[in-house]
Amino acid sequence: MSSNTLLQIGPFTQVLTLSGLPKAGPITDEALQVIENAWIVVQGTQITDITTTPARDIPTDNITTPAVATPGLVDAHTHICFGGSRARDYALRVAGTPYQEIAARGGGILDTLRQTRAATEDELRDGMLKRLDLLAAQGITTVEVKSGYGLNVDDELKMLRAIQGAAADHPLAIAATCLAAHMMPPEAANHDAYLEYIKQELLPIVLNENLASRVDIFVEQGAFSIDQARSYLSHAKKMGFALTVHADQFSRGGALLAAELGCLSVDHLEQSDNSDFAALQRSGTIPVMLPGATLGLGMPFPHARKALDAGLPLAIASDWNPGSAPMGQLLTQAALLGAAETLTMAETWAAITQRAARALDLKDRGMLLSGQRADLVVWPTGDWREILYHQGAMTPSMTFVGGKKFAGRNVLERAL
Ligand code: NIG
Ligand code: FE
Repeated sequence: MSSNTLLQIGPFTQVLTLSGLPKAGPITDEALQVIENAWIVVQGTQITDITTTPARDIPTDNITTPAVATPGLVDAHTHICFGGSRARDYALRVAGTPYQEIAARGGGILDTLRQTRAATEDELRDGMLKRLDLLAAQGITTVEVKSGYGLNVDDELKMLRAIQGAAADHPLAIAATCLAAHMMPPEAANHDAYLEYIKQELLPIVLNENLASRVDIFVEQGAFSIDQARSYLSHAKKMGFALTVHADQFSRGGALLAAELGCLSVDHLEQSDNSDFAALQRSGTIPVMLPGATLGLGMPFPHARKALDAGLPLAIASDWNPGSAPMGQLLTQAALLGAAETLTMAETWAAITQRAARALDLKDRGMLLSGQRADLVVWPTGDWREILYHQGAMTPSMTFVGGKKFAGRNVLERAL
C-alpha cells in the first residue's frame, strides 16, 4: 500500500476508542467513548477518521459479522529475548522453594544467564520471533523487550542486537530497554565494580548504536541496592536515557527512588502502598503492574485499586519471562487483576492501551483517533464488555499493525 492510499475498515458494531479519558486516576465505564456502526479510515500507517458514514470512493475492508474494534494492545514490560527454559525452577517453586532462595542457590536469573550466553544471536532472534507471533495473536501490537540475561558487554549487545533483528523481521512494534543491571554476574568482583563496568563499557555503545532508549535496574536484595541504583540511574539519565525500575517486588524502597529520580515508569510494585503511590503521583512516574509475575510466583496481587485511587495512571504488562512470569498472556492477566482488585473495565482497558503506551513514552498509539498509528484489533463480538468478560479466552479475529493487516504465522506452536 502506498503511503497515500486510503482504506476504510468496517462497519464495526462498536469502536472502543479509549480517547478522551482522564489522564490519571480512576475511570468509570461511562467515560468510555463507544461509537456504534462506524468505519475506521486509514491512510498509510495512520488513522485519519472514524466515521458513521462511509465514503463511496474509498477501498473498503468489509467486516461482515458483528465486531468490536479496539486500539492495539501495548505490552510495556517483557523479557522475551532469552535462551532455554526454567521449567525446573518452576517445579521447585510449586513444591515450596521460594524464588529468591532458588536464585540464591545459583538458579533463577543466573540459570537463564547461562542458557542465554550459550545461545547465538540468531537463535535468540528466532525464539523472539515465535513469541512475537504469539503476542500478535492476542492483539498486542507494541511490545517492550529487555536485555538482562547477558550481563557482560558482549552478551548484552548480542541480546540487544537480537531484539533489533527481531524488530526488523516482524511487523509488531518493539521498544528495547537495556537491563544490564538485572543482577551481578558470578564473575564480577562486586556490585559497584560491575555497575561501573556497564556504565563505562556498555551504555555508550547502546546509546551510539541506538540499541535501547531506556535503562532499567532490578532494585532488590540479591540484585542491586537503592544507593547503587541511584548512582547508576543518575548516570544513565545524564547520558540521555529514559529510566525505568524493577521496584518493590519483594521489599519496598525502589518505588520511592523511581519517584525521586523522575523515572518514566516503575514496574512490579507488589509491596508498594499509599505512601509510595503518593510519591509516584507527585513525580508523574507511570506505575506498571505485572500480574503475570504474581501468578507465576503464587503471590498476592499488587494494590492496583489503591494506586488508581491515589490518582495514578495504572498500566498493566505481562512481564513475560522464563522465570517469574512464563505465561505471556496479557489480556488474561489484566482481566484477573481487574477481577481481584475491582478495576472497572475502563481502567483495565486504559492500562493495556493508552496508559501502557505512556509508560514507553509513545504518544502516537493506544487510542483510536485521527492522527494515531493505525494499530487496531478486531474482536468477534458486538459488545465491547464481552472481551474482558471472557478473561482472555476470546481472541482477535484480525489485527492491523501500522495500517497493515497482520497475517499471523504458525501461532499454534508455543515457543520455548
Ligand atoms: O520482572 N524481577 C526480576 N526480573 C524479572 C524476572 C526474571 C527472571 O526470573 O528470569 C521479573 O520478574
Ligand atoms: Fe521484569
